[in-house]
Amino acid sequence: MNPTHDIAASTPIWENALGRMKVRIDETMQSSLPGFPHYADPTTGQWVTSADGFWTGGFWIGELWLAGRYWNEPAYFHAAEDALRRLAPRIHSKSVFRGFLFYYGAVLGAQLANSSAAYEIAVRSGQTLAKAFNPTVGLIPLGTEAEEAHKVGDDESNIDGVIASPLLLWTANATRDENIRKIALAHAYKNAEFCVQPDGSVIQSASFDPANGRVVRRYTHKGSSPSAIWTRAQAWAMLGFSLCAMLAPEEKRLLALAEKVADWWIENIPPDLVAYWDFSVQKTADTKRDTSGTAIAAAALLKLSALHPDRNKAAHLAQVAQDTVLALVQRHLTPTTPADKRPPGILADGCFDPNNGVAPANELIWGDYYLLEALGVLTGRLDAQA
Ligand code: GLY
Repeated sequence: MNPTHDIAASTPIWENALGRMKVRIDETMQSSLPGFPHYADPTTGQWVTSADGFWTGGFWIGELWLAGRYWNEPAYFHAAEDALRRLAPRIHSKSVFRGFLFYYGAVLGAQLANSSAAYEIAVRSGQTLAKAFNPTVGLIPLGTEAEEAHKVGDDESNIDGVIASPLLLWTANATRDENIRKIALAHAYKNAEFCVQPDGSVIQSASFDPANGRVVRRYTHKGSSPSAIWTRAQAWAMLGFSLCAMLAPEEKRLLALAEKVADWWIENIPPDLVAYWDFSVQKTADTKRDTSGTAIAAAALLKLSALHPDRNKAAHLAQVAQDTVLALVQRHLTPTTPADKRPPGILADGCFDPNNGVAPANELIWGDYYLLEALGVLTGRLDAQA
């Protein structure tokens, strides 16, 4: 790919995109939805919600923390605290995806809003999650209540679960707990051992023997085949290792891992920068894109760029991130043309779970979150290392 766009020239475009996203957040907030927004019909904007937050409830709360910070309006922070209170019982779910729930639902509130309620829930969730660590294997397994994985339990892991490590590292830093720090690092490195291939591509899942940690099978369950490179597996790895490198800067291996999986992404994305839902699938005119995986990757590239010690490499990563965000906001964030009558601020064309026919071309709450985060960084509202 050949990145071209100039960041300074893009500022009005970023501001316009943020304005559209704010309209969508306000509308969602005012509609007093039951539960947590999960995915939406891209034509009507109507949300499908989850009662308990599934693995995605933290992203809505994360959007509210970001909105409060970007527009300096306390109402967003109050709404975030209310929603986090409803999510808090999930601290005890037997699921590694508590990392998603409480990094975005709680850690962000502690960092961006200085919320003591969020701080307390963030610490408690990290401390509780650490107890699920299997020291023989060296990671936190998916757990028996992990959401919508193909096979759940204490002998399974997914790269999506690597987001547990940033929650644990943040908790370890906040409480100076060396044991939790070791657990966080072990979990990240074991996920890399199980899922990152020598060329930097990522296989989603591994089954292992919980008595000795030996891998029984590596496979991708949400992609086009068991050996496929599913787009969000690659994107979650990019983000997970970048966040870990940010929270444990002395661990140079984390930065190297983040760079390796990011380089694979950059070498394999289509020329127009918006990834299809799966890198391995045969592409036709009907093949679905996944704007959510693409937004995760863009947010990760911005973090990696901020961390990278080589200035040329950092500039290249930032340029790819900017060009990717530009592609998303110009072609997939409603309205995409003057004739587009869809509600504004929807990141369309996210592909959730096409193998089961669930939301294959929809607005997905986590896609919205990462686009909002990336736009905050590009407009200087948010530190890339937040
Ligand atoms: N389970 C995380 C995802 O679907 O991306």
